[in-house]
Order: sequence, then structure tokens, then C-alpha cells
Amino acid sequence: MSKLLLIDDEADVQYSFRRIFDSPEVELSTASSGEEGLALIPKLKPDLVLMDIRMGGINGLETLRRIRQLDTKLLVILMTAYGTTATAIEAMKLGAYDYLLKPFDVPKLKEIVTNALKAARDMKQVVSYQPLLESEDYELGIVGRSEAMQQVFKLLGQVAASDATTLVTGESGTGKELVARAIYHHSHRAAQPFLAVNCAAIPEQLLESELFGHERGAFTGATVQRIGKFEQCHKGTIFLDEIGDMTPPTQTKILRVLQSGTFERVGGNQLIKVDVRVVAATNKPLEQAVAARQFREDLFYRLNVVRIHIPPLRDRREDIPLLVNYFLKTIARDQSRAPKGIAAAAVKALEKYHWPGTVRELENVIRRAHVIAKSEAILPADLPGEITGLGGAASSVSTVPTEGGASDAATLARQLFQIARRDPKLKVLPAVERELVIQALKETDNNQVHAAKLLGITRATLRKRIEKFKIHRETQIQ
Ligand SMILES: Nc1ncnc2c1ncn2[C@@H]1O[C@H](COP(=O)(O)OP(=O)(O)OP(=O)(O)O)[C@@H](O)[C@H]1O
Ligand SMILES: [Mg+2]
Repeated sequence: MSKLLLIDDEADVQYSFRRIFDSPEVELSTASSGEEGLALIPKLKPDLVLMDIRMGGINGLETLRRIRQLDTKLLVILMTAYGTTATAIEAMKLGAYDYLLKPFDVPKLKEIVTNALKAARDMKQVVSYQPLLESEDYELGIVGRSEAMQQVFKLLGQVAASDATTLVTGESGTGKELVARAIYHHSHRAAQPFLAVNCAAIPEQLLESELFGHERGAFTGATVQRIGKFEQCHKGTIFLDEIGDMTPPTQTKILRVLQSGTFERVGGNQLIKVDVRVVAATNKPLEQAVAARQFREDLFYRLNVVRIHIPPLRDRREDIPLLVNYFLKTIARDQSRAPKGIAAAAVKALEKYHWPGTVRELENVIRRAHVIAKSEAILPADLPGEITGLGGAASSVSTVPTEGGASDAATLARQLFQIARRDPKLKVLPAVERELVIQALKETDNNQVHAAKLLGITRATLRKRIEKFKIHRETQIQ
């Protein structure tokens, strides 16, 4: 459950917030003045404060200043009427997380609160990474005893102690974000903010403004000045996730911040200097992006000074039983119950599977099996069919042979869809298309005419697919 504190002297606002945040996941407390709010914070330990700027007694800005003395990381969202945005900017410079204009747009308010609560969790939840399963007092852990993970831990320890820019790489779901958060928690910046920006999730035009802020009138819709994440994160750590998706102009600006610690807001010419540690992550092979001139080479080298590569789960299968236990324990803890067990045969099946969705997929499989297991132990039948080779309960797909090719395809598609559902990031359609093309080329010894026929497409289409999926000769002959 998340704890929200609203500081506002208007009874109406308090009333609407109670209605808006009437949910079992949120506990809302209210204070009618800055003084009252400041007195409540140490007792309440809220995850997020929403505060009016204009109040009787000490105003929002002064209250924010004092909150910062109590707690450097507590997230504060300020609320202000349109005419007083200058004060809101002032507040951002004092370390407010965001501001909202009154009157509120309720969906926007909810979105900002949800994002802020995620950011608060990232800052608070300590991510440990040493073998910690014996002790129970961890919140989140990076589990792994394999040689490869020991190497990751070693690097992580070295990197955390320094201020070096770090690049975390690995397939989707391997734990890159977890590693980034562990670096932060074990660094000397742990008491300062940590902010994450997902470069792939933010539309291209907005990313630069999100990172560096913008001046009023910088582009259509920029009606007020805005402070970006780099400025907000001064003295802290910024996590640039999916950095491979950044456009060249943004890459240039990032390079400059890394080199000189300076930048300008979009549409501005005032030089702003910040002290921010950058941790970046990507699941794209950046070397290839550099070769294809999609990613700046100089930025790549700058980021690649320290690189932590997390191998996929199928290359460190000895970690699977450990992870299974860890997930069972965390599920039990979240539900305040004793952990369920798991049958040895089920663990064996999990160890054999190739885990295209890596650790995230394993976590989802365990969560799901935990729900559907009827007894106190997870059995092979509680796992998806493609893992056990049985028509497992989780996939609910019949494995009875079907009469024709079309229904075979339908059955296969249903199974693939179950996989996609568990891991939407898998991008199932292109992934399957690519694998089919590779398979056909292998089968036909690279005879494109023959391969195209097998796939039911023209040779021209096949060529386009080979190009699109960058299927090179090496891949074909493997
Ligand atoms: N070694 C590990 N120990 C415990 N949990 C892990 C480990 N690795 C990954 N996880 C869990 O798996 C899930 C995916 O991890 P995370 O989000 O860090 O992956 P990612 O590499 O950032 O993926 P993506 O590229 O899709 O963003 C999370 O719930 C995380 O807690
Ligand atoms: Mg991630």
C-alpha cells in the first residue's frame, strides 16, 4: 500500500482527493497547513506528498524547503493555479518532483501520482545483490550463484563505489533495471534522488524536453517553462533505460552532459550545470547500431567505459532453482502466508526450458503457477505445456492432433499467444517471422526460391524479410 499525504488548506480539495484516491492500494492522510504537514511527516513516513503552494501560515515553497531538511528523497508534487507557474518552477528547482495546475485534470493527476509512486519505490526499495536468501530482511534481491552472476556482482560492487557512467546490457527481462537500482543503492549517492527515464516509452519529440526541460514557447504546446529530469536529479543518479532508442539529437545532448555536465533547456540558451551520475541500459546490440550509424560512436565509447552484461537465463541454468525459491518466498511475503513448495519434477522442467523471456518469464510462470496450484506444492501440471511438454494447465491449449494444416497453425498460434501474453516485450510476431525465415533457409540450404515456397511467400517478400530481420549468412548456416 502507498501512503499519500495531502497538504492543502481547502476542505474542497481534501474532499475531492478522498474521492479520487479511494482505493485499497492508497492510504491518504491530510494536513491543512505546512506546519501540520511537517509535523506529520516523521510519524507518517509518506511515500508521496501533494501540496498546495498558496496556503495560510508557511507557504508551499517554505514547507518544501523544510521537508528537504527532513528528507532529501521524499517526493513532493506541488499544486498551483495557472497564474503562479513561476513559483512552481522555483519549487522544481528546490527539488519538487513535479507540479500540477489547478483545476485538476483527474486522469493526469492519477498518472502523475502513479509515476511518482513508482519513482518513490525505486528510491526506497533497497536492492541487495549478495547471496541474501538466508536473511529475511531484504526487500528486493538480485539472485544468482552462477559464475556469470558472480562476475556481475563483482563489477557491480566496483562500479557502485565509483561515480563512473555505467552501461548495463542484456536481453529483455534479464534484470538490467534491478542492477541499475542496486548500483544506486550501493553508491555514495544513495541518499540523493534516483530517477528513471524510459527512452523508448516517451515519444521522440518529448524525450529531449523530459530529460533537459524546455523554455516557455520552445515548441507548440510549451506554454510554461519546464524543468527536466537532469536538473531535478542534481547530485543524484539518473537511469536512462532503453538508451538504444534515443534519436541522434538527444544522443548529442547526452554526450555533452557526460563530457561537461552542462546542457541547455530546449529552446533556451542559459547554460545549466549539473552533477548527475548516469546509468544506462539497453537490450539492443549497440555495436550494431553504431555500425549502422544509428548510434553515435563517441557516445557509445563514453557509455561503455564500464559495462555490466547480464547473460540470459538459458546460459546460467544453475540459477533457476535459486530464482524459483526466491520468487516463491517473495510471493509468500507479499501475501503474508507460508511459501508454497515445488515438486522436484517441476523444477527439473523449469531447468530444461530455454526461457526466451528470461528471468521475467520465469517470475511470471511461478506467479501464475502459485495461483493455480491446488495443493501446497507446485506440480508439473501447474506449469505451461511448452515448459513441461505436457498439455499444461496454464496454457489450456489442447495438444490433441488436428486434422489439417490450418488448425495446426491455429493451435500453434494459441500457444505462441500464451507466451506473448506472459511477456509482451517479446514482440512475438516479428520474432516468430524471423525464426521461420531462418528455419526455412536452413532446411533448404539457403535456396531462396525453395525457402519462399515453403513459407508460402514470394521470393521478393522473402528477400525483404531477410533484409528487415538482418538475417546474415552466418545466422543462416548455424
Ligand atoms: N537475478 C534476479 N534475481 C531476482 N529477480 C530478478 C533477477 N533478474 C530479474 N529479476 C526480476 O525479473 C523481472 C525483470 O527484471 P528487470 O525489469 O530488471 O529486467 P530488464 O532487463 O530491465 O528487462 P527489460 O529489458 O524488458 O526492461 C523483475 O521483476 C526483476 O525483479
Ligand atoms: Mg528494463
